[in-house]
Amino acid sequence: MVPNALIETASRPYRAAGRFAWHFASAKLRHDPFFAYILAHGLIPDGARILDLGSGQGLLAAWLIGARAWHRDHADQAWPANWPAPPAPQSIYGIELTPRDVDRARIALRGNEARVRFFCDDIRVTPFPQADVVVACDVLHYVDSNAQEAVLHRVRTSLASGGMLLLRVSDAAAGWRASVDRAVDFGMQLARSGRTSGLTVRSEAQWLALLGELRFDVTICPMGNGTHMANRLLIARTAG
Ligand SMILES: C[S@@+](CC[C@H](N)C(=O)[O-])C[C@H]1O[C@@H](n2cnc3c(N)ncnc32)[C@H](O)[C@@H]1O
Repeated sequence: MVPNALIETASRPYRAAGRFAWHFASAKLRHDPFFAYILAHGLIPDGARILDLGSGQGLLAAWLIGARAWHRDHADQAWPANWPAPPAPQSIYGIELTPRDVDRARIALRGNEARVRFFCDDIRVTPFPQADVVVACDVLHYVDSNAQEAVLHRVRTSLASGGMLLLRVSDAAAGWRASVDRAVDFGMQLARSGRTSGLTVRSEAQWLALLGELRFDVTICPMGNGTHMANRLLIARTAG
């Protein structure tokens, strides 16, 4: 169970970015199991250089920084007993196409510029820095098939030895559940950026084949709940 106060701590900085940003942050951190999962399973190591592709309004950074602060102040009272301590990343570098989201991220995370930076750019073309952990949560289906392959190829090159890609996708072979995911993502894109584009989806097996070609070792975590039952988190590791 994710402590309510942790969600409030991580979403509170978005009040400065407006009501939409704040309510969206608190709803997403509460209902999307991705955020709790990465903390509960200690997926991100201390000192990691994190590259967040399609970083949206910077929720991953807000979550990790909020968790660290909340753990420091309240661990003895309410930090979930089976969760490890949250990581202290060395840096978080977000790349996001939508200027409004980049603005929201910068406003909410201001004061953390020494280690958290957001760039308004296109993951299809902008160079990636070296990273220990690359996160691509619900973003690759917004680019076409060739771009998906090219981005993953560049992710593989940018990852340090022993590095890890956290790729969250919807399994296109999951029938009506996948259709629900697509409809939600289409609607969210329209609401947040005023932009819509076609979505390019793959089945879980197709994602695994592509990651295999790039010499990743992959663990699959079903990540569905509620309306998002087709979601999968693919934890793709490079050889150490
Ligand atoms: C569903 S949102 C997920 C945001 C974030 N990863 C999260 O989990 O909160 C997908 C994001 O990817 C961004 N995006 C789509 N295509 C992109 C591209 N080519 N380059 C950078 N960002 C992109 C969208 O603008 C949107 O903010």
